[in-house]
Amino acid sequence: MDRRKVILDCDPGHDDAVNIMLAGRSPKLEVLGITVVAGNQTLEKTALNALKVVEHLGLDLKVYKGCPQPMVREKQTSAEIHGESGLDGPVFAPLRGKIEDKHAVSYLVETLMASDGDITLVPTGPLTNIAMAMRMEPQIIPKIKEIVLMGGCYQLGNVTPAAEFNIYVDPEAAHVVFSSGVPLVMVGLDVTRKVQCYPSVVERMRSIGTKAAHLFADMMEFFNKTQKEVFGWEGGPLHDPVTCAYLIDPSVLTVKEMYSEIDHFGGQSYGRTNCDYFGQSDKEPNSKVAIDIDVEKFWDIIEEGIRNYS
Ligand code: BDR
Ligand code: CA
Repeated sequence: MDRRKVILDCDPGHDDAVNIMLAGRSPKLEVLGITVVAGNQTLEKTALNALKVVEHLGLDLKVYKGCPQPMVREKQTSAEIHGESGLDGPVFAPLRGKIEDKHAVSYLVETLMASDGDITLVPTGPLTNIAMAMRMEPQIIPKIKEIVLMGGCYQLGNVTPAAEFNIYVDPEAAHVVFSSGVPLVMVGLDVTRKVQCYPSVVERMRSIGTKAAHLFADMMEFFNKTQKEVFGWEGGPLHDPVTCAYLIDPSVLTVKEMYSEIDHFGGQSYGRTNCDYFGQSDKEPNSKVAIDIDVEKFWDIIEEGIRNYS
């Protein structure tokens, strides 16, 4: 079976870490590398978190450190959800390896330029690295097969009524990516809020009994605690893994083609993804926006992803 080549661009982050776990041993995906950006925590922390997850799971994957701050805005983190380390909860062994010397943006440019146009980018953090790579070498744009990103919403935001965290942190970068012409799948809060990781789900996964299963459960127990404090939910929405779940089995999502653009003008709705759900503009769709998710199928995909680790 042909495995789909992906690069995970992330800011771990509990749900980013689960996405690494899901993709890392999937027979449907070939992870070429992990690029990291500042977002849920500082770049130093998110990069170390990515490496910790990779080593804990025994994955043979390189981690590249990218941009430490957004293109224009001041840096913002999400410590109230992900904790001081950005991945509070589980206990990790001391690191054995190290982060690659090459900058993530250079890695993206070099890897895409050398490719046959068969690489899918999976950003689950602010889009700074991807936008910087597009600006550094515009010739990568036609080389990108597709971008399947977690970010945005056509309904309500989670940082402001209008905006979702990943887009809000770097709206200018999101604008570069959304207007690039690359085929885009936007996996936004509209669907990720439907996959709430209730304690019953945590127990279901923990009972698999492996190291990966315990990592999942330890992370989700912390994540659920902060999600309850901040949003009042019993189960935190497992946003980022919806991207790779979709790549593993596209039938998990219902998507609708829409023209989407980013409000990067700095007003009340700064960072909003304006998605033309009803086709009221005369603009050609530039994105497939996720509008529904098969929740049961999603948890089955997550369980299978954990079971891929022995
Ligand atoms: C997004 O924000 C981050 O906190 C999560 O990791 C996810 O990528 C959800 O808005
Ligand atoms: Ca993330």
